[in-house]
This record gives sequence, structure tokens and C-alpha cells, in this order.
Amino acid sequence: EKGGYDYFMLKEIAEQPKAVADTLLGRIDGSGSLTLDEVRIPTRVLREIDKVVIVACGTAFHAAMIAKYAIEHWTRVPCEVELASEFRYRDPILDAQTLVIAISQSGETMDTLMALRHAREQGSKVLAICNTNGSTIPRESDAVLYTHAGPEVAVASTKAFLTQLVACYLVALYLGQVRGTKWGDEIRAVIRDLSSIAGAVEQVLGTMEPVRELARTLAAKDTVLFLGRHVGYPVALEGALKLKELAYMHAEGFAAGELKHGPIALIEEDLPVVVVVPSPRGRSVLHDKIVSNIQEIRARGARTIVIAEEGDEAVVPYADHLIRIPATPTLLQPLVATVPLQVFACELATARGNEVDQPRNLAKSVTVE
Ligand code: F6R
Repeated sequence: EKGGYDYFMLKEIAEQPKAVADTLLGRIDGSGSLTLDEVRIPTRVLREIDKVVIVACGTAFHAAMIAKYAIEHWTRVPCEVELASEFRYRDPILDAQTLVIAISQSGETMDTLMALRHAREQGSKVLAICNTNGSTIPRESDAVLYTHAGPEVAVASTKAFLTQLVACYLVALYLGQVRGTKWGDEIRAVIRDLSSIAGAVEQVLGTMEPVRELARTLAAKDTVLFLGRHVGYPVALEGALKLKELAYMHAEGFAAGELKHGPIALIEEDLPVVVVVPSPRGRSVLHDKIVSNIQEIRARGARTIVIAEEGDEAVVPYADHLIRIPATPTLLQPLVATVPLQVFACELATARGNEVDQPRNLAKSVTVE
């Protein structure tokens, strides 16, 4: 049932191109517009929304963070993202003009369920993004957009995360389409790029052997840091979470701009630091700032592991290890940049003799608050 792989996690990592393609299937029509018939919230209501709030836990929360960048950019509707476990305990401001999105692979996470119940009590519409048909969260929501990752067995989420991202992009683009924003051309271009993104994920998967080799050399390390900016910041958090849960290592993700406000004090000789580099096209200012960050930490002895787009030559002099990913539009980069981090964590866990599919102390679905 592991399809020839040693672990479900490896199988699920390998299934990502298909999971991504399946989640897009039937949702982009021939003319390049989105048809999300399943989103049974009337377009009239979606046009009147004045705020989006996304609630989720763990890996799904990282997808939510990325969704915020996409939703605000493409729709200009303010978007807040909150850990489901914090949400209802602080009396959040919600009303009928708030669209609440609950993201959950299992559809049974109690924290997320309680957050969406609270939102509905305040009169907000709730859209679930979920991977498990007929589970509690979609049943209790006003509408659901299913991710089509197929069953995810390994405790650490991989393919569900990528499909959550796809679903978030679809919702963001759909909101943009329904509301009509000044980004119309960009939205059409992104819809085209999304249609070919599964191929880019496949391409990354084909180049992972050096990442595995690198992971094996780091098995005795105590700490790994992850840096990113813009949508690369949640990717850094996700890379750190994977390493904590699978390798039981101390791992932290930071927004690279925060380095100088504290975390740079952690940098010492030979400390592995993974840096997710934004595209040098698009938001090139961010790219240049992150290249300076890599320079700074390397000058202080860090072992830099740099994830950068093909053709990005500016990073080469400062990268002790360079992991290439295909060029994508800025907002879609997490779909390719996360994959090496999953492989890295999985291989480190194996090298440390850990149980990859069933990490200690964790359960696949967390049905208690
Ligand atoms: C991390 C992981 C967890 C889940 C979190 C939410 O690899 O699997 O952090 O993402 O428990 O679970 P769902 O998405 O089922 O609500």
C-alpha cells in the first residue's frame, strides 16, 4: 500500500504533482476563468464581503498565511489569519460581511471546528477548505472547496499542504474574478500559470538527490534555522515545523527582515541556515535584501543552504549548498519551494533513526481542544 516506497510520507511527497493537478481539475474552464460551482455562497454575498478571516492550525495555518498575501494582492479585501486555537478566546470582530475560511486536511480538528462555530454564531459565512469528504468541518460550514490530495496517511502533512495552497489561490482568484479588481490581467495570467504548476512540482521532485545527501550530513546537528520573506516566510515556518515533528530537532523559521532585530545573535560557526529566496524578477527589492541577509549570516559563519530560482546567479557566491527550483510567479513559489524542505526533513528523520510516518507524541487528527 506504500506503492514501493519505504514510508507513506515519501509516497505522499511523490504524489504531489497529481494532487495539485487533481485539485485544479474541472475548476478552470476553457476560456481561463474559474468555475467554483461548489462554493455555494452567492456571488452577491461574496461581492459584499469587507473582510476575510482565515483560521487553521499547524501546516494548514502556514497555507493560510500564504493565502493572505494572495487574497489581499488579488482582491484588495483585508485578510486576517489566525491560529484557530487563539481565535474565539479573544472576542474577534466578525459580522455578516466577514468571510471566514477554515482550512483543515482532516476536517476534524477541534480547534478549527470551534473557531468556525464561533464565526457562524456571529453571523459570518464560513467556507471550508478540506481534504476529507463529509467530515465535520465541511458539514458545519456554509460551503466547502475540497482539496483532492487523496488520503494522507503520514502524520506530517505534505501533499495536503500543497493542495491547500492551490485551493487558497483558487479562492483568492475567484474572489478577484467575482468582485472585478484592477488586477484582471494578472489574475488571468496567474490562472494560466497555475494550470502548468504541477509540472514544476514534478521537476523539483526530479532533482532532490543532493538534498537527501545534504540532510544525511546534518544528522548530528542540534539546530537548523529557516529564513524567508513575503510568501517565503510561511514556507520557512513550514520547513521548521517539518523538521521539529520528524527529526525532533530544534528548528525555527524567521522572516528574514527580522534577523537584525534579534535572531542574528543565534548565528554561529557551521550553523545550518536554510534561506528561501524570492524570485529576482517580480519583487526584486526583496530578492536583493535577502541576498544581503545571506551574505551577513555567512560572514558570521553560518552554513548557508539556499533555495533559489533557476538562473538566479546573485546567490551563487554566498551559497554553501544551492537548491534550484523552477521559476514561478512570486505568489506561487511556495508550491515548489516547500518540496525540498519536506524531502530534507524526511531524510533527516530517517538518518536519525526516527519513525517517519508516526512521529512521537503526534496524532494525525487532533480531535481535542
Ligand atoms: C503538520 C501537521 C499538523 C496539521 C494540523 C492541522 O505536519 O500535520 O500541523 O497541519 O494539526 O490539521 P488539519 O489540517 O487536519 O486541521
